Amino acid sequence: LIHLLSTEGLPRAVLTQILDTASTFLAVGERDIKKVPLLRGKSVFNLFFENSTRTRTTFEIAAKRLSADVINLDIARSSTAKGESLLDTIANLSAMQADMFVVRHSESGAPYLIAQHCAPHVHVVNAGDGRHAHPTQGLLDMYTIRHFKKDFTNLTVALVGDIVHSRVARSDIHALSTLGVPEIRAVGPKTLVPDNLRDMGVRVCRDMAEGIRDADVIIMLRLQNERMGGALLPSAGEFFKHYGLTEEKLALARPDAIVMHPGPINRGVEIDSSVADGRHSVILPQVTFGIAVRMAVMSILAGNDA
Ligand code: CP
Repeated sequence: LIHLLSTEGLPRAVLTQILDTASTFLAVGERDIKKVPLLRGKSVFNLFFENSTRTRTTFEIAAKRLSADVINLDIARSSTAKGESLLDTIANLSAMQADMFVVRHSESGAPYLIAQHCAPHVHVVNAGDGRHAHPTQGLLDMYTIRHFKKDFTNLTVALVGDIVHSRVARSDIHALSTLGVPEIRAVGPKTLVPDNLRDMGVRVCRDMAEGIRDADVIIMLRLQNERMGGALLPSAGEFFKHYGLTEEKLALARPDAIVMHPGPINRGVEIDSSVADGRHSVILPQVTFGIAVRMAVMSILAGNDA
């Protein structure tokens, strides 16, 4: 593996290798993350052309726990603001001896463009591109599911909400399919959950009760207003009424169901606070596991480089 750009097409053995490697970084209790020398002397450049709290910060922590040098380019204050092109920016950062670029961009495909043009020894990790993919989120979601449910092959997983704009949903669906989850449901109205998801082997449910009944895992997704380019359909209020996860609706799922969300959450839009903060929620463990999973990805990509 040279770059990590998508979970699509990643073999099951590679997915499992990443999850197994991540577990080695988590000490007993699954909270303390070890510091190891695997990327000592390497330079990891965080290039976030789009806002982030969780992904950017956990990549920085992960790189530091691997003993790498981390450079966070402040895009708003960079020469991107003077019109320097993406590829010229990359060429100049490569001349600063970059070993890895972690890239988030609002344009789908931007990390692929960088991967095509950077030097052969440089690794690119997609930290979220447009609506396309967010592979490390997909992987940390798989880690979380495996941690709490142990086995993928007997699960019902429901993804609820704005799937059409969600790079997380796409990355999750590819990974869940590869790991053998037998029932993947996509739940929401036609404006947010297109019928063609069926082509990915997903069961499309327009009705929330049908969608989450007996689910083992519920992944709530944020309404991505910034990608809608106009009226929010349905409105936030309508969405909450029909698809917002409340304790009443959650009672339809299995008694030991876990509730996940990639964040940031819209309380009272896709999820009620009592559920987000309740006993089924594993939203904050997802964030912690993200550090170990990102350590695993970076160490597998670059850990054996000279
Ligand atoms: N889950 C996620 O990508 O969150 P951030 O946008 O805060 O990185």
